[in-house]
Amino acid sequence: MKYDPSFFFNVQTIEQGKMIVLNGPTEEELKLRWSLETFHTISTLKKLSLPENPLILDYGCGIGRLSKEMIEQMNATVVGIDISPSMLQLSFEYVMHDKFIPTGHRALQKIIENGLKFDLVVAVWVLQHARNPIDDILLIKSCLRENGLFYCVNCTERGLPTDIGFVDDKNNIEKLLDLNFEPMNKTILPKTVPMGDGLTNIL
Ligand SMILES: C[S@@+](CC[C@H](N)C(=O)[O-])C[C@H]1O[C@@H](n2cnc3c(N)ncnc32)[C@H](O)[C@@H]1O
Repeated sequence: MKYDPSFFFNVQTIEQGKMIVLNGPTEEELKLRWSLETFHTISTLKKLSLPENPLILDYGCGIGRLSKEMIEQMNATVVGIDISPSMLQLSFEYVMHDKFIPTGHRALQKIIENGLKFDLVVAVWVLQHARNPIDDILLIKSCLRENGLFYCVNCTERGLPTDIGFVDDKNNIEKLLDLNFEPMNKTILPKTVPMGDGLTNIL
């Protein structure tokens, strides 16, 4: 078995990207998930104590579903990063805003080394897929300004993308988060958001 994110996260169109990001079994179900889950996430983020024009890192932004709404509804400036070059390319097209900067890990690392810090990092349905989630968690921690917040949603099971499909390697993301952050709030997604067992951590 080999870690291979390209099979799942290499997409050609925005429609394909949407299907991967929220994984609806049918088009109707996808539309419903898209509107309910996005609404739930943005409503939760709006209640956080953030500056008027926050600088947000959308970690694993996919096609920019949340970046777009955070810019439009929270007056945010957003840096979106993703391991998939095709997702990043589509995010530019989907968000299409001069307050959105899609980029990769290496550029992010460089701008952090040069002192940029974020008011909020959002990682929704991402860490469950990360090969070495502790590396992502430490990177996210290093991006936050003092008293910055981290909003994280994950499946309770791991979904490591490999050449034989998604694999649960039993790496416990919740435990890694608890070891590295002070939890503010931990909840299961409400039943009205039909996305399975999403564990939400605000840290
Ligand atoms: C299920 S999608 C979620 C996208 C977006 N967060 C959303 O909720 O609309 C997961 C995304 O995480 C990206 N990803 C997976 N592992 C990653 C990692 N270690 N660092 C950054 N992005 C990653 C994938 O390429 C994919 O675009």
